[in-house]
Amino acid sequence: MNNRIPDEVVEKVRKANDIVDVVGNYVQLKKQGRNYFGLCPFHGEKTPSFSVTQDKQIYYCFGCKKGGNVISFLMELEGYSFYEALNFLAEKGGIDLSDAGIREPTSNVSEESQQLLSVYEWLTKLYQHILKYTEEGKQGYNYFQQRGITDESIQTFQLGYAPNIKNFTADFLTKKGFHQQLLVKAGLLGIQDDQTAYDRFSGRIIFPIRNHLGKIVAFGGRTITDEKPKYLNSSESDLFHKSRILYNFDLAKKHIRKANEVILLEGQMDVISAYQAEIGHVVATLGTALSESQAQLIRRYVDTAVICYDSDFAGLEASYRAALLLRTAGCHVKIANLPENLDPDQYIKTYGSEDFLNKIIKNSDTFINFYMRYIKRNYNLQIESDRITYIQEILKEIAKIESTVEREHYIRDLSNEFQLSMDSMLDEIHKIRQNAQFTEDKRAKNRYTNKASSKQLTNQLYPAFQNAERQLLAYMLQNKGIAERVQKDLAGNFNIEVHKIIATHLYAFYEEATAPDVSGYLDKLDDEQLKQLVIELSMISIREDIDEQEIRDLIKMIQNHAEENTSLHELYLQQKQAEQENDPIRAAQIAMQIIAIKKQFNNR
Ligand code: UTP
Ligand code: MN
Repeated sequence: MNNRIPDEVVEKVRKANDIVDVVGNYVQLKKQGRNYFGLCPFHGEKTPSFSVTQDKQIYYCFGCKKGGNVISFLMELEGYSFYEALNFLAEKGGIDLSDAGIREPTSNVSEESQQLLSVYEWLTKLYQHILKYTEEGKQGYNYFQQRGITDESIQTFQLGYAPNIKNFTADFLTKKGFHQQLLVKAGLLGIQDDQTAYDRFSGRIIFPIRNHLGKIVAFGGRTITDEKPKYLNSSESDLFHKSRILYNFDLAKKHIRKANEVILLEGQMDVISAYQAEIGHVVATLGTALSESQAQLIRRYVDTAVICYDSDFAGLEASYRAALLLRTAGCHVKIANLPENLDPDQYIKTYGSEDFLNKIIKNSDTFINFYMRYIKRNYNLQIESDRITYIQEILKEIAKIESTVEREHYIRDLSNEFQLSMDSMLDEIHKIRQNAQFTEDKRAKNRYTNKASSKQLTNQLYPAFQNAERQLLAYMLQNKGIAERVQKDLAGNFNIEVHKIIATHLYAFYEEATAPDVSGYLDKLDDEQLKQLVIELSMISIREDIDEQEIRDLIKMIQNHAEENTSLHELYLQQKQAEQENDPIRAAQIAMQIIAIKKQFNNR
């Protein structure tokens, strides 16, 4: 796998980075005993089953069973190649790979994607130059100025203008050697009825769209006249999936962490406007409803999401959808309540960023308050029957809240607003909750079984000999002395083929390694399934104080099984032969022997 890069270099880089720090950049980790736990970044979940073990320098998810070391974590999460992950860690750890004479091997990004990245880099520079320095770009620049976008923001967001000159972009890019076909596919060029190409974005201001690594993977272009549509986007590609990208996520990341909150906005202008008003933790979807994967991405980084969409009908509807998705992902959700007909951009321009933060964001509605506002439209609260159904709808929602205090808080609000007795509403809630109890119980059970526990792994229903092998390997992975002892007494005589392979590799590993190092051992393995098993095994808890007797027993149990297997195997063959030779008496005798051996081994 990493045959070009010397093991010592890999090891040096790995040791220069603590897996807890690296993973901590992506997952909120909380220390629990000797491990750290957080929400798994590889599958959606609400209760943490993702663990990081500092002394072994590995991670493992008890839910989806993904695991590995710091390098594989980055490969999996960032889509890095081995080299890219190593390079990233080397830079972080202050190690210069080129000093060690290591060059980047060919990247795993497809040729086409690489060309696209390069196209966007060129075009971004070109369009920004045109915006800032040319006569042709003046109208774009003026538009930004008129909307209060500063020069600094133009720089930060790499904003530009695609000039209204026939074939400008196509000519520029084809001269650079890019194929027209690629540009059409990317949605930069369109094809007219007469089969000639035209610049799709011409005459528009350009918002480069960066992925979470800061690479430009698409453009959004807004008209500055009245052209339709108002915004145009590049086509979807391997690099650009609208439903997976959040605008400004790369810059917002560190602010989101600091605030432990993210503000979700509707579009580029809102984001830029907030960001330049020094509200950094802002991201936006790009003209599409929030998707499940975006909600999960957000959840990985923060507890609280504030949805701040337009206050019009569509905005309310979109807020509701987004709130449900974010809640499902496990976020605490708040929904801002902007005054009629203002979007965040306009609000900030009118009242300033302090008001925006203090009056709008800080005063955001809880989900229930928002829900009241949201469903109010469907009822005429002057009519009693409408009022009652409305209140019942709200009570159903309140009943879902786990905290009693919180529930009572909302009920008090309701009781004040509608002059109803608190007791009768509490009764109603009680009934709703009892009905829901059955499903709740089930959910609680699931939560329990999902709960990270390293014990549970050893308790799985494997046959005894298999558990013995797993337990012994767990010791060997964490203790060189035991491994050497097993090498002497048992050698490769594990009954299960993969255990044999793991042990053999481990003996070889300890020839060089002075101390146990699961993370380092993993780098020596090529097979993905083998790696996963090793991680699983190293998560099995072992006794701190090694019990000589236990090790002996484990070895014995494994040997016994092998013995049992060989003798049984031999007898089965004889039995078969006796049957073929039509010798029922002999066959019966052998059957008796088989039973006896089984019994004997069971009693051992
Ligand atoms: P809005 O129409 O609310 O735009 O669409 P806006 O942010 O207020 O834009 P300005 O302030 O007039 O410039 C919100 C977002 O939806 C996407 C864009 O990303 C926009 O920022 N959108 C909108 C499209 O993709 N296509 C459209 O035709 C319109
Ligand atoms: Mn707007």
